[in-house]
Amino acid sequence: MTNRTASVADAIRTRRTIRHYRPDPIPDATLTALLDLAVEAPTSWNLQDRSIVVVTDPAGRAELARATGGQPQPQEAPVVLVFVAEPQAWREDRADVYERARRSGAWNEEFIAAFDAESTAFQTDLDRRGLVREYAVKDAVIAASFLILAATELGLATSPMNGWNEAEVKQAIGIGDRDDLAIALLVSLGHPAESRPHPGRRAPERNVFRERYGA
Ligand SMILES: Cc1cc2nc3c(=O)[nH]c(=O)nc-3n(C[C@H](O)[C@H](O)[C@H](O)COP(=O)(O)O)c2cc1C
Repeated sequence: MTNRTASVADAIRTRRTIRHYRPDPIPDATLTALLDLAVEAPTSWNLQDRSIVVVTDPAGRAELARATGGQPQPQEAPVVLVFVAEPQAWREDRADVYERARRSGAWNEEFIAAFDAESTAFQTDLDRRGLVREYAVKDAVIAASFLILAATELGLATSPMNGWNEAEVKQAIGIGDRDDLAIALLVSLGHPAESRPHPGRRAPERNVFRERYGA
């Protein structure tokens, strides 16, 4: 396991999008620890309606590189993580989620019954408004953000990627026929072969407001 090098605040401030990587692999224990932290991310109604597909095989990464229009990250980084949103997960049996919460003492029977009914009503309404995909993508992207920061803490490099053909990414990870699933984000992970300067951020006055937007 790589040593910790940074606090959360340091990780946020020092992280950069890295597009070129050394070929050195990521040890399994490191990868497992990072994935574990990614799934600690919160999800709407604790639906946990996202999955992560870890692609390390060169052939799989080559397919992902093609799906991204030839971006260097999937070709060079030893690991590419595909964050898959599961917009229909709320319709599935959630007994395992409730059992964990019951065992940890976080939720009692009364809470579980109310939570189940309310979350189903909430999701049914989202579905009616065509928003279940958007909400599952939010959950997947929060998990990706957690992983990116955790990787930065270990001195590893990442790049979020939006530039891809969804059908081709789905094909590459074996879900070409799954209309019920959506690709939220790709994240490359590895050892940096470049360092990039901070491109800067707008002054907070431009997009941080108090009480009312634009104030
Ligand atoms: C959702 C998302 C998608 C992105 N997609 C790509 C991408 O496909 N290819 C790429 O090279 N960079 C991609 N980026 C990286 C941005 O260009 C980068 O974050 C931005 O220029 C700021 O640089 P920084 O991350 O080093 O602060 C993406 C970033 C985000 C947040």
